[in-house]
Amino acid sequence: MATADLASDTEELDPFDAFNRAMGAGIVEDPYPDFARSRAQGPIHGGSGFTLDGASADETLPEELPGLFTAYSFEAVQQVLRDNETFSSSGYSMVMGPVMGRSILEMDEPEHHAYRALLQQAFTRKAMERWEAEVVKPVVDRLIDRFAADGRAELVRSLHFPFPMTVIAALLGLPDSQLDDFHRLGVELIAVSVDPERARVASAKLGELFLEQIERRRQQPADDMITLLCQAEHDGQRLTDDEILAFLRLLLPAGAETTYRSSSNLMCGLLTHPDQLDALRRDRSLLPQAIEEGLRWECPLLMIVRIAVRDAEVCGVRIPAGSVVMTNLGSANRDESRWEHPERFDIFREQKAHLAFAAGPHTCLGMHLARMETAVVVNALLDRLPNLRADPDHEPPRITGLTFRSPSALHVVWDT
Ligand code: HEM
Repeated sequence: MATADLASDTEELDPFDAFNRAMGAGIVEDPYPDFARSRAQGPIHGGSGFTLDGASADETLPEELPGLFTAYSFEAVQQVLRDNETFSSSGYSMVMGPVMGRSILEMDEPEHHAYRALLQQAFTRKAMERWEAEVVKPVVDRLIDRFAADGRAELVRSLHFPFPMTVIAALLGLPDSQLDDFHRLGVELIAVSVDPERARVASAKLGELFLEQIERRRQQPADDMITLLCQAEHDGQRLTDDEILAFLRLLLPAGAETTYRSSSNLMCGLLTHPDQLDALRRDRSLLPQAIEEGLRWECPLLMIVRIAVRDAEVCGVRIPAGSVVMTNLGSANRDESRWEHPERFDIFREQKAHLAFAAGPHTCLGMHLARMETAVVVNALLDRLPNLRADPDHEPPRITGLTFRSPSALHVVWDT
């Protein structure tokens, strides 16, 4: 197909730069003081709270929309996300539909429930244990092998960015020869806001690549996620090729980008709080709570959107049917009525559920995988790079971004 062939003709694209350009890294340093001011005005109120370049998103709202609200408090965000009969996810079809296909993200009940029940079969605890030993650890070790003898490295580019995408390729059972193509096309797809045409071409090309794999698994089942998806059955239903394709495309932004950012954010917190890094180095039983604190403190994806399909009330505020409701996960995770000094990174704080993986029926399907991947990467770094610490020859790392947040670099040194 002519459009798909174009993908291989395009000039070299640096995946890392494309990601960051797409997500506006560096434009916004710290939106949290603004979020705190918004929270102080009320748990949920009108407007988007976005002031990227001085212009509020409210000014660009199409006239037919009766309203735009943003939920800022933990309670308001949780209430919106839990009630998916009132607050629909269908808005995703406009943003992601053209490049993803009809993915689970945009589905409402009862379709969502049935589809999720099928997908869930590929994410069992048993699968997770196997993936950890057979996929994630080897991928992380291979990447660290490349720089372990050097005594210094920039971790985002050499480790955090490539590892989740490589893990997904391995889980899908893609042959090594397709890894580079997969990586490049995945990045082009994700960078849809930078270059929609390139994203569309990448989507078609990925579709061809995945379809070939699906057909192969249908004829000859293998021990991988595509086979699991082909075989999954719920109430006599199976996934169609288009449904599998939409899910596989979604795995790139949903599974790779978020994990790259969340694991970088945790390392950033640890490197800038050396006492906590030392405590964790000495006592790895602290790792699960460190991972949750990293997710709470700097969640990688800050905003998700819903549309009110009927009149509703959230924390005493009337939301008319048809309103767009943004839920600010970042703000909810820094709600001072739930966490003391929420701006502090503190792996020792009392553990309370956060909203980095959202809440309700659309709660992240890959959260256990994300946690496991992060644990593997942090453990491997601490085990293999003695006395790992921030490189004193560089500025301390910092996290930037608005809807997606992470550090663009993590310069580190260790003893060799
Ligand atoms: C730290 C890493 C991750 C974060 C912060 C994260 C965050 C989220 C959030 C906030 C949602 C809800 C979106 C919405 O309701 O609009 C979501 C959904 C989802 N995530 Fe994740 N995610 C992460 C990792 C992963 C991984 C590793 C996978 C799979 C490989 C994954 C697969 C999914 C899927 C399939 C959904 C859609 C679930 C549904 O609509 O029912 N995520 N994720």
